[in-house]
Amino acid sequence: MKADPAEHGAFFQRDREWQPDAYTPWYKTSVLRSPQKALLSLNNTLSEISGPVFGHNILNELDNDLILNFAKPGEMPIGERIIVHGRVLDEAGRPVPGALLEFWQANAGGRYRHKKETYLAPLDPNFGGCGRTVTDADGRYVFRTIKPGPYPWPNGVNDWRPAHIHFSIFGHGFAQRLITQMYFEGDPLIWKCPIVRTISDEAAIRQLIAPLDMANTIPMDARAYKFDIVLRGRRSTLFENRLEGN
Ligand SMILES: [Fe+2]
Repeated sequence: MKADPAEHGAFFQRDREWQPDAYTPWYKTSVLRSPQKALLSLNNTLSEISGPVFGHNILNELDNDLILNFAKPGEMPIGERIIVHGRVLDEAGRPVPGALLEFWQANAGGRYRHKKETYLAPLDPNFGGCGRTVTDADGRYVFRTIKPGPYPWPNGVNDWRPAHIHFSIFGHGFAQRLITQMYFEGDPLIWKCPIVRTISDEAAIRQLIAPLDMANTIPMDARAYKFDIVLRGRRSTLFENRLEGN
């Protein structure tokens, strides 16, 4: 699948008022991870602008089904069955088709399947915790999973991560890639989380909280949460089938 040739304009610069600061000492890991010197602003290069666009042919049948993609035959993981769905749009509100979404999460007890994970909650033998999918022509995606549990982490004396799903979204170029986290409506831990509190604008935090979506719930099976994602947009805007300025 090729990107529309009209979609080759340079991307907008990242809005650093909206994104969290790199240095946020109450989130301890940020101290060593953050740049020590002022950032330089560079123009987009061709490889950033004309990156890959993924097609559905890269996917396996169960890639977007975390309930079954690691389960033993005839078994299923323990926990609350949910559907997560939404649209991937750019800053101009245009759908982003062919975006690769990868997601990973803890199990229902808040435990990751990772060799460095030390939390005492047990692994679920039927839950791997990662999957992927590609957006359709309208920028839509959907996957099925188990609602992750919150977990404690060594930051302050008693810090807990709210229930969350990690996302990587790869749009139409490297400059459009986004790594983010989705939270669940009604979780009281969201507003106490030091990582969430690296985001200064409350409206930006609310964009990361997926509302319960009863309209897309499957009765007697799974509840649904809706999570729309906005990637960086392009400076070129479509106008009467021509690039603006042409
Ligand atoms: Fe996490």
